[in-house]
Amino acid sequence: MIPIKDKEGILRMREVCSMAATVLEYLKPLVRPGITTMDLEEASRAEIARIGARSACFGYQHGSRRYPAHTCISVNEEVVHGIPSYKRVLREGDIVSLDVVLEYNGYIGDNAYTVPVPPVLPQVDKLLRVTREALNAGVRAARVGSRIGDISSTIQAYVEDHGFSVVRDMVGHGVGTSMHEPPEIPNFGKRSAGERIRPGMTLAIEPMVNMGAYATRTLSDGWTVVTADHSPSAHFEHTVLTTDKGPEILTIPGLAQAKSA
Ligand code: MF3
Ligand code: CO
Repeated sequence: MIPIKDKEGILRMREVCSMAATVLEYLKPLVRPGITTMDLEEASRAEIARIGARSACFGYQHGSRRYPAHTCISVNEEVVHGIPSYKRVLREGDIVSLDVVLEYNGYIGDNAYTVPVPPVLPQVDKLLRVTREALNAGVRAARVGSRIGDISSTIQAYVEDHGFSVVRDMVGHGVGTSMHEPPEIPNFGKRSAGERIRPGMTLAIEPMVNMGAYATRTLSDGWTVVTADHSPSAHFEHTVLTTDKGPEILTIPGLAQAKSA
């Protein structure tokens, strides 16, 4: 069963999603040559504390391991769940995926964005553009009355039409009082398949797109997912509320503040 949020739940989701977007927006311009991914981690930790939220990544348990950082930072061939490091110095031509997941008042907001360190190769620029547009297309497909497979197939078609591949090993997901709720939202699949979309669902839609083949593997740190062929990979994500008036992106900076003002 896909959880349906009531009025209160929607209010809380608005709040935490806007906070997650605010932190992500804060981090984007900090990405530049010469800094380390640990510098970004520390900036995220400080900003999350400043706004009074909590990282849902820090201490997140998978098997026997706990994720050791506040923000997932994945560079180039790293797809997701990269671990910030003092040793990873950013260089011109890199792309840096920032995945910010916050908890506030018992609710969770999830969003991600891939930032280039210019100049990047034209094909890398295209990878970022296509992944961002695939996310937008996926969001538009999250219409009440459609099905989860309509989101999946829309993203897959968009990405593959532009010559890239969608990761199979990780999927988008419902999000709410826990980070991962039903349904799974693959970035590949069949139109009209899966559960029907109803009002009040909060969905984390998150295409992970590889320039090369879709296969991935996980490094020995137990977290960092990389492309098997070492090709660059991009990741864009929004948390979206489904409504009778259409999908609404909740991970927009300042939204909660503006609405309560
Ligand atoms: N957005 C990621 C996900 O949905 C965040 C994971 S946090 C981590 O899987 F702790 F697992 F890294
Ligand atoms: Co997610």
